[in-house]
Amino acid sequence: MNHTDGNTMTCGLIGNPVRHTLSPLIHNSIAEMKGVNLVYVPFEVPKGGVKNAVRGANALGIKGLNVTVPYKSDVIDHLVEIDPLAEGIGAVNTLVRTEGGFKGYNTDMSGLYHAMQDEGIVLDGECVVILGAGGVARPVAYLCATKGADRVYVLNRTYEKAEAVAKEVNNALDESLGEKIIPMPLDDYKELLDREKRFFVVQCTSVGLFPDVNSAVIEDEKFYKHVYAAIDVVYKPLETKFMKLVKNAGGKVFSGLKMLLYQGIDAFELWFENEGIKISKEEADIIYKS
Ligand code: ATR
Repeated sequence: MNHTDGNTMTCGLIGNPVRHTLSPLIHNSIAEMKGVNLVYVPFEVPKGGVKNAVRGANALGIKGLNVTVPYKSDVIDHLVEIDPLAEGIGAVNTLVRTEGGFKGYNTDMSGLYHAMQDEGIVLDGECVVILGAGGVARPVAYLCATKGADRVYVLNRTYEKAEAVAKEVNNALDESLGEKIIPMPLDDYKELLDREKRFFVVQCTSVGLFPDVNSAVIEDEKFYKHVYAAIDVVYKPLETKFMKLVKNAGGKVFSGLKMLLYQGIDAFELWFENEGIKISKEEADIIYKS
């Protein structure tokens, strides 16, 4: 545990609730590893209070903030600048102090991309399959489409939701990228197996989440023969049934906990960009394992 002194810098988290967050653990570990004199504090911001929270943080010289539910889109109105990826997604989870106020980023998605790169997963020209069409599926679809994937299928039990995600993301994408997002009913996944030889999967449904640990959204082993790599956004349990199915079929897979760690790493690197702080894959692995 570090001791605060006259040079201690402050970063924090705004959201509601914030009690169960793992972010202090992540940022304290990084700060300790890199020898940065930082405290990271969760701030529970009451409903309607996000504007005051951002202003107050600015007045107090807070170096950076993470933003969690329910303020990831509301906070945008109170920024002086927004990064293009965060703007395209329509959600901000990291604020970086600039001279005039805070600039917003989305490290939930840049972190996912960073984790993929560290794991050697390349999207260029590849096919991506997103399982689910809830809150995480939309930004993941946007990320994959803008980072080089050729086709992004969104498979969902409720087809209308997959259609809505595809429509929204295709509209948000630059016209030059075309209609990359393809909606499909989950039950039609066999059609996908006829169309695509191999794909990268992002599991974005809540299936497999504790205590429902013995289910996966697709159990058919034939599906997994096409999966060369995958991520499960669920991280309780650390190894889900979906992850086991991918592994058993010979695919590379990582847990949502790694996504969570990398969103923290990306935020930390943004806050300390001027100090030149970078966290290597080896350092990320040490923090992940601890
Ligand atoms: P969030 O927005 O937090 O991601 P959500 O909107 O409840 O949460 O999304 C959960 C996702 O898991 C949805 O895609 C949901 O499918 P539906 O849109 O059809 O509800 C999917 N999901 C949950 N339980 C499922 C199940 N038993 N089989 C298939 N998909 C399931």
